Amino acid sequence: MPFALSRRSFIGSAAALSAAPTIAGAASDAMVAPVPANPLVRQRADAQVFRHDDGFYYLTGSVPEYDRLVLRRSKTIAGLATAEETVLWRHEKTGPRSGFIWAPELHWIDGRWIMYFAAGPSGGGDDVFRIRTYAVVCDGADPMAGKWSLLGEFQTPWDSFNLDSTSFVHKGVRYFAWAQREPGIETNSNLYIAPLKTPLTLAARPTRLTIPTLDWEVRGYKVNEAPAVLHRNGRLFMTYSASATDARYCLGLLTADENADLMDARSWTKSPQPVFVTNTQTSVYGPGHNSFTVDEQGRDILVYHGRDYEAIQGDPLFNPDRHTRVQRLYYTADGTPDFGVPVGNGPLPERFISAASPQALLAHDAMRLIGGNPSLAQTQFRQTPGRAGKASVMLSPILLPGHYLVAGKDGSVTVQKDQNSADFALRSQFVRLEDKASGLLRFAAISAPGKALGLADGEIRLVRSRDATAYWRAD
Ligand code: AHR
Repeated sequence: MPFALSRRSFIGSAAALSAAPTIAGAASDAMVAPVPANPLVRQRADAQVFRHDDGFYYLTGSVPEYDRLVLRRSKTIAGLATAEETVLWRHEKTGPRSGFIWAPELHWIDGRWIMYFAAGPSGGGDDVFRIRTYAVVCDGADPMAGKWSLLGEFQTPWDSFNLDSTSFVHKGVRYFAWAQREPGIETNSNLYIAPLKTPLTLAARPTRLTIPTLDWEVRGYKVNEAPAVLHRNGRLFMTYSASATDARYCLGLLTADENADLMDARSWTKSPQPVFVTNTQTSVYGPGHNSFTVDEQGRDILVYHGRDYEAIQGDPLFNPDRHTRVQRLYYTADGTPDFGVPVGNGPLPERFISAASPQALLAHDAMRLIGGNPSLAQTQFRQTPGRAGKASVMLSPILLPGHYLVAGKDGSVTVQKDQNSADFALRSQFVRLEDKASGLLRFAAISAPGKALGLADGEIRLVRSRDATAYWRAD
């Protein structure tokens, strides 16, 4: 709600800061890419974002009609939201690839663009779930302009339901990981891995990595599917999706040492709990079928789909609102991925590390602001445009949508629900100031000239804007 801010108070707060000393240090002027906002792309499920060495991000995924393979590209992740989408290939008029087209993945293999996907026949009845894995190949270097044609069908040891394949290279070996129903095992799908001999044939008999047995893996359907691999901190992390594709859908995690025999199932340890689940506070339901990429600054990004409502009419598989979402992927002190919670709709949140006390971040415990690191989600704040002119911003905890940081007359700073009042609109406005040399930030309180958000003596409150405790590093 706009309100007339007295020029005196605004000028006062800005002037107090402009005299602040610059901080020694040489932060690079890295290209500042636009901040993506979720949902990144509506109605693209099973999303894969692939950053190629041509500098482009490529995005593909399942379309609600399940009838075609699509691809879009952009120089930035945020740009994928509005990038032109090209249809690479459509399901055929008849035959084994005339029905559902699911979960494509784009890969650059031995100098060719290859897109793997799952497909089934048309014609109705259960036969439409006679899903198998295929690949199409591009005839040129530009996957958006080249001609795509069928390369063939993936050859597996069992003629059974198989889908959600991915491929990765480790220690010079290209592996294939996929989901399949194995004869004799009463599940919808399990996860398998094997080295590739050619893009569609295996160089060894597959190893079964996991079958759905835990309670969070068998809700609605017994499903382990959609493997995705991340190599970080001396380990391979393979996420996968479990249970029915409604709000019970979630991510599980297998972990292997980077020097282990990946073909030995004993090398892979399954996390006993899911690592990424529905969150009713941020309103993201059924997060899953993920991939990994890095942002323009080289920071790990989790790509996944999720709905922003829980109740689904009919079969979730035919609900179109599994939107593509992205968010930063952080790590715990021992180098394990910390998936946190699905961050919800809106611009990606940030974390703010105190420059004066680097062990502490801006965090909240319900409505109380604290300096610490209680959980990833409690340290993530979404910056939105303010209500006091272009320079003003507001900060909102992702776990408390509609609540904002508010500067009290007594120098306190708390989290309060938007009261839509002039006083609230004044006290919830900050000016984000970045010191170019160091990259450090300050949040000047518009309602308290000369004061800024600070962490002092373990407490989050307004401090003198030149005080060292007023400086933060965005992460
Ligand atoms: O989205 C279609 C299929 O549904 C995907 O291949 C699978 O991961 C999900 O269960």
